[in-house]
Amino acid sequence: MFTSKELRDKWIKFYESKGHVNIGAVSLIGDGSTGVMFNVAGMQPLMPYLLGKKHPMGTRLCNVQGCVRTVDIDSVGDATHFTFFEMMGNWSLGDYFKKEKTAWSFEFLTTVLGFDKDKICSTIFEGNESAPKDNETASYLKELGIKEENIFFLDKENNWWELEGTIGTPCGPDNEWFYPREDGKDSSDFLTSNRYVEIGNDVYMQYEKLEGGKYKELENKNVDTGFGLDRLLLFLNGLDDGYKTDLFIDTIKYLEQVSNKNYETDEVAKKCMRIIADHTRTAVMLIGDKNGIVPSNTGAGYILRRLLRRAIRYCKNLGVESTCMLEVAKIFIEKIYGEAYPLLVEKEDYILEEITKEIKKFESALTAGMKEFEKCIFGIERKNAFMAQKDANYIKETTISGKQAFRLYDTFGFPLELTIELATEKGYTVDEVGFNEAFKTHQELSKAQGEKAKGGLTEQTETTTKYHTATHIMLAGLRKMFGNQTEQKGSNITEERLRFDFNLDHKMTEEEIIELQNFVNDVINQKLDVVIEELPYEKAIEMGAYGVFNPTSNDQMVTVYKIGDIDYQICGGPHVKNTAELGKFIIKKEESSSSGVRRIKAVLQF
Ligand code: ALA
Repeated sequence: MFTSKELRDKWIKFYESKGHVNIGAVSLIGDGSTGVMFNVAGMQPLMPYLLGKKHPMGTRLCNVQGCVRTVDIDSVGDATHFTFFEMMGNWSLGDYFKKEKTAWSFEFLTTVLGFDKDKICSTIFEGNESAPKDNETASYLKELGIKEENIFFLDKENNWWELEGTIGTPCGPDNEWFYPREDGKDSSDFLTSNRYVEIGNDVYMQYEKLEGGKYKELENKNVDTGFGLDRLLLFLNGLDDGYKTDLFIDTIKYLEQVSNKNYETDEVAKKCMRIIADHTRTAVMLIGDKNGIVPSNTGAGYILRRLLRRAIRYCKNLGVESTCMLEVAKIFIEKIYGEAYPLLVEKEDYILEEITKEIKKFESALTAGMKEFEKCIFGIERKNAFMAQKDANYIKETTISGKQAFRLYDTFGFPLELTIELATEKGYTVDEVGFNEAFKTHQELSKAQGEKAKGGLTEQTETTTKYHTATHIMLAGLRKMFGNQTEQKGSNITEERLRFDFNLDHKMTEEEIIELQNFVNDVINQKLDVVIEELPYEKAIEMGAYGVFNPTSNDQMVTVYKIGDIDYQICGGPHVKNTAELGKFIIKKEESSSSGVRRIKAVLQF
């Protein structure tokens, strides 16, 4: 068998022979600077260099970088989707460009790995208003001997690579490499069949992504290459299943043995084994990373928790004890990845301990949660039967409400996906929007309680009262600038400053910071009265009030503060009487707080 070690070595050796320096891998966990929770591509840590900064190791770089992508988690269970994978990368930072890159990718695939050039397919950018059709790459590919009918021009959706949602990042058109799963067929069904698997991607990064869907040409013409080790390995071994390579085969064999089920012939067991193996591998990598994380209820820790809990559930489906995951984890650490990732071996006990803890936590909740889930379904069915008797045209309810799903999450630790999966098995859906609303209300409430407990709002002085009002005005400004989805994600006020966290998908530009500062100072200068109203909750919401509040009933009385017509918030106060009391508002800092959350520190000068 062609092994993962051989492939990693061949990649590095090949690019070193083309003058590249191996820069090694970085942590899997994002540092918050890119707004991405995990390292999703080898280029991520190289962003500043792709935008023009000089790299200390030169202009030709290569490595093998672990990546975690959970967007396709629903596809895991098939033969070629994984939540963790290794990307073999190489980069030109303003050095070589399309001619060399096409030639080297081709040489690596055909000469080094022995792929059949007649079967290789390539897709290229067809052009749009941002960038022209990539005829140049097409002509190089043809010169290299790739068949014309195996070259496809596709749109931005397919052949443009950029990190979603992040502004100020390098991007560009790309040339993607594909290989067919089986032998002998032509490529006429390239777009419609799922027979072709993407194995690699050469991005010609010559643009910077700006706001509003615009792009700026970069001074440097860069190349950003990523080839998926897991998938290449599959083709190299003439396989059609990624779980049969040396990266997985021992874990599958072990799961076959403990479950006494056959991977080849039992499709249900096959899917379970794949999910258990994939998710356990990612969990091992995330816990054993140099910036390792542990399961929790927020951020990256929550994704890890979801992966582990999904795997635990599939252990049940497979009919094995969840503690099997510990054996699977050991195989990954000791047999499969220990040599390439020695830190995993060092942290082995710790990794196993964290997985054990999560299994214990979830197991006790799972039994009770399953009962609760069954009760939900039973309740809906009973209602359906009752209503159908009364009304022949009654349309049956088949949705689990957001509130019910949230209760399963909050009280029984059921990740939303788990409830959705269970619901789907029964022909039900889940009100995901309702779940998210319930989740948000809960989060805001606990945050507000947390802040109160810390004394942030209870120990009000004249100065902190001023900062509190300033915070309201600033949030109103942020919502005006970035839309009403902008919300408080945290707030901390001292005698010296305010610190405020809110959701936003990009770093604020200098102009935006100035705009916000001017907005607040303008409101101050307008000398607006701050008016208090007491009214029923529902009425307040009807009149457009917003804020952190979880009413016990719709007619519960709430306090609403109104600042001119710019802010109308449900809030416990206190506030100043007139905005003129606030002095001058100055933003000192705007920085990332966590993924998708920005933090502003500002002061008032009296
Ligand atoms: N950045 C490119 C990718 O992730 C190479 O596919």
